[in-house]
Amino acid sequence: MINLLNSKNITLSEVEKTKFLPLMGRAYGSENHSELLKDPTAEKIFDLFKGELLEQEKLLDNYSKLLFFMRAFQFDRIIKNIAQSNEKVKLVNAGAGLDTINCRIKAKNITFYDLDLPESAKLRQFLIPSSSNTFTISGSFLDSKWIEQLNLQKNDTLIIMAAGLFMYLPAAEILSLLKQLCTIHPNTHILFDQTSYVGKLAIKKLLKKSGLTNVTLTSKMNLSDLRHTFPSHTIKKIPYWSHIRNDNAICFSDRLKMTLCDLFEMAYLVHLRKM
Ligand SMILES: C[S@@+](CC[C@H](N)C(=O)[O-])C[C@H]1O[C@@H](n2cnc3c(N)ncnc32)[C@H](O)[C@@H]1O
Repeated sequence: MINLLNSKNITLSEVEKTKFLPLMGRAYGSENHSELLKDPTAEKIFDLFKGELLEQEKLLDNYSKLLFFMRAFQFDRIIKNIAQSNEKVKLVNAGAGLDTINCRIKAKNITFYDLDLPESAKLRQFLIPSSSNTFTISGSFLDSKWIEQLNLQKNDTLIIMAAGLFMYLPAAEILSLLKQLCTIHPNTHILFDQTSYVGKLAIKKLLKKSGLTNVTLTSKMNLSDLRHTFPSHTIKKIPYWSHIRNDNAICFSDRLKMTLCDLFEMAYLVHLRKM
């Protein structure tokens, strides 16, 4: 990995390095639970970095890997549903990292815009090059300049997905940008992941174990603030584990954790859309 980054002149900050955790999770899930989601591109990219990520991978327990895998599974499921009932969809993958949703979902009516910080975007562009329906945008999610690049048309359905991003950004700034976006383009779905206080402690521990000690986690998005900002929208919470928690191939203690996670809403997706 270091060789590849050096040869491409890419320097990743700690927050940018967090992308390798969900990548490991998706590669693991794809190998072990392909009946739910097959992600051959994630497996291929993981193989490329394997030498250096192997130590980190050993530190990640199966439950954490499956959490990243099921998060991707749930995002895919919801996005496929939206794409089935809308003609033209523009999907912004905010903080895309090395997520390969553009390879997993084959719907012809979706155009993918993968947005990440400049150094991460460079790496992404090299590993997952732009194609006729996939574009990499370099910049911060909080800098609204990227909205122009979408060239939004009235009939477009816009989806903003943020997997593992909002926990690193100030909630007030996220809200203000989302409000701006929904004013410009009301037909917008917003999908992001959320954790409880206990879930946040678990992420902190995971980052520390992975040597990413300087990454700061912000306070979580307050759903009452979201309701207040978007009074004419519905907000739905989607639990992660319902499709896998009865799989006997998974050890009992992990299945129990999955049940408790869903029951106490320790980690889940939020889907915000116009009523
Ligand atoms: C935990 S990773 C998640 C990657 C990907 N969404 C996934 O699920 O595999 C967080 C990503 O957010 C990116 N990121 C952090 N701050 C950002 C910002 N202000 N704007 C855009 N991307 C950002 C990082 O570079 C990193 O790729």
